[in-house]
Amino acid sequence: MKRKLLGALLSVAMVASLLVGCGSDGGSTTTTADSATTETNDNADAATDTAADDSADTAADTEADTDAAADTAAAGGKIGISMPTQSLERWNRDGAYLDEQFKAAGFETILTYSDNKSEQQVNDIQNMLAEDVDLLIIAAIDGGALNTVLNEAAEADIPVISYDRLILNDAVSYYVSFDNYTVGQLQGQFIADTLDLENAGDKVYNMEITAGDPADNNAPYFYNGAVDALQQYIDAGTLNIVSGQTEFDAVATEQWNTDVALERAQNILSSYYADGTQLDVWLCSNDSTALGVSQAITSDYAGSNSVLITGQDGDEANLKNIVDGVQTMTVYKNVSNEAIVTLSLAQAMLAGSTIDASLIDSFGIDCAYDTESYETTEGHKCPSFLLVPNVITKDNLQELVDTGLYTMGDDGYLSAN
Ligand code: GAL
Repeated sequence: MKRKLLGALLSVAMVASLLVGCGSDGGSTTTTADSATTETNDNADAATDTAADDSADTAADTEADTDAAADTAAAGGKIGISMPTQSLERWNRDGAYLDEQFKAAGFETILTYSDNKSEQQVNDIQNMLAEDVDLLIIAAIDGGALNTVLNEAAEADIPVISYDRLILNDAVSYYVSFDNYTVGQLQGQFIADTLDLENAGDKVYNMEITAGDPADNNAPYFYNGAVDALQQYIDAGTLNIVSGQTEFDAVATEQWNTDVALERAQNILSSYYADGTQLDVWLCSNDSTALGVSQAITSDYAGSNSVLITGQDGDEANLKNIVDGVQTMTVYKNVSNEAIVTLSLAQAMLAGSTIDASLIDSFGIDCAYDTESYETTEGHKCPSFLLVPNVITKDNLQELVDTGLYTMGDDGYLSAN
């Protein structure tokens, strides 16, 4: 009942907002658990009128417009945005883009970062439910640890968009992410193409692997995409994993932590490469782990050759390493576009619109509607909107600048805007 009423309100409000002009910045509360600061923006009292009598009507009109805009924001509903942490660069951008998109569309928002602590994230989401949000957008720290609060959301009839990382609970309505298996495939295929493994003949390349957080539902998809692209070369002996650490559990990195990746890489280098064995490739699932691996190679690898290192996310430090030739590639995911898709989906959900592949036409963004690849529980398919990742190397950094989300300095290094 609540959502149907909201759907009707939203439709009326959307018409009202057209009358008073788009982009009203609805009131919002942003709370970052990491930095424990709360900031509330509210434009309802921004307008003051000092008009003389002869313009009193204009002032009255202005006041009416402001009230209508506030009503639109209120009718737009309240959105809870739960991000995992601020210690991994990309989530700061995801949170900012989502908050910006929803506020510009007239919603009130509650944005939290849970410091990579699952209990904190449960608490943050419970607080959002207590604040009577109309929809939840959640990037899970641990996709299997949110059942309590997801069940509470279901009981309160609050829809959930699982953002970027799939939450393993059937209360999830939709999943918005990138094609995670393709992210890994791009990394694996980049290695195969760069080394021309197809034509390697008897040459053997020594490789190591660093995967992501086992609690992150994405991590096995990245790992499997890359290893599947390279399996034939591993089987043929063209790619040799000298440490013998090939299974996901053996190469996973808790919380994608740079220091954990660094320490494991140092152990491998001292155990298997101190005798002069050449290291040719290190397959890393993302940039935070690639940063640790690069640091280990710089400090602990005695070889003189350049090691091919993969990554994901386009973190600033890694883009610098790509310019400097320390890292070879990253897989870029435009999380600003991910926020735009999430907003369009949320608006359709709250308006009670039909949600299928046709919604993609409204995004203006390359995206697939997938109803088969992801399950929240065994056999329970989760309809997903999957955006398209891209390979970035030192040769196409301009593509990042062209998104408008990065600036290239005179030194050739990129910084996120
Ligand atoms: C994954 C995400 C990646 C990766 C990692 C670190 O779930 O899809 O972009 O960087 O988390 O946050």
